[in-house]
Amino acid sequence: MSGVLEEYQRDSYRAKILVGLGDDAGVFLINDTAIVETVDVITPLVNDPFTFGSISACNSLSDIYAMGGKPLSCLAIIGYPSCDYEPSVLREIIRGAQNILSKAGAFLIGGHTFEDNELKFGLSVTGIVNEDRILKTKGAQRGDLIILTKPIGIGILTTALKGEKIRDEDLQEAINWMLALNDIPSSLAVEANATACTDVSGFGLLGHAVNMVKDSEIDFVIQKDEVPTLNNAMTLIDFGMVPEGTYRNLNFFKTWIDFSSSVTEEEKLLLLDPQTSGGLLITLQRDNLKVFTESGIFFSIIGTVKEGKGRIIVD
Ligand code: CO
Ligand code: CO
Repeated sequence: MSGVLEEYQRDSYRAKILVGLGDDAGVFLINDTAIVETVDVITPLVNDPFTFGSISACNSLSDIYAMGGKPLSCLAIIGYPSCDYEPSVLREIIRGAQNILSKAGAFLIGGHTFEDNELKFGLSVTGIVNEDRILKTKGAQRGDLIILTKPIGIGILTTALKGEKIRDEDLQEAINWMLALNDIPSSLAVEANATACTDVSGFGLLGHAVNMVKDSEIDFVIQKDEVPTLNNAMTLIDFGMVPEGTYRNLNFFKTWIDFSSSVTEEEKLLLLDPQTSGGLLITLQRDNLKVFTESGIFFSIIGTVKEGKGRIIVD
């Protein structure tokens, strides 16, 4: 029997769940090592397979960074209709993912393909995190600042791509943001003793903000004009380039949100637009903001935390 199992059976082995269901990723402690694990799979949102593989890899790694962790190893998950795709397409997707993983210092060590009616690709990711510095979704304190590290509008722009309504330079901007790893923002959040952190993905900015305050005694006050947005996102909303998920998000999360009368319907949609490989939404004490300002990375202070009833107030 292996030493590890023997130890486990002697009960001297320290193994427990530190973060379970409901956060960006799960965290499991084995002896003195906190292991962080997540999985995410998406359908193509750009036409080029290499770029799709790269974006999906960034997207899957993001939940590890949202916990303050470092990714180490990954397994690929690929669903595809074998009659519609050449094996070379799958190779390009994997090559794109590998390219991102090498930047992140993580390794692809296996995976699984299966027959599906539409192409899907993602990674399950295992990483490590400092047990005492785990960035959880809950924990924001009144008086904290709320910062966001990428502009929103990805869902709108990728819908516009499908509707062939997008300009090349706007698409390229959206792709560049999706390919930006959340690694540095994550280390800065840990360094700045962030009180809470999550990544903005399918629920949109305000949906994820709701998850940070729900059932707590704080409110987030968000200044809509401070929220960074991708070029032309508002114009594309006017053209009707709004993904179905945006309406679903608005409908579901509006119960927890108080919009001031100055917020237009289009702005509400943008604030709930589902993101792929979105930025980190971080709360921290004002005194610790210098960690971000001195770093030179892109971020925007979008609001503040106050005592409240688990609501989002948008001004
Ligand atoms: Co997440
Ligand atoms: Co996720």
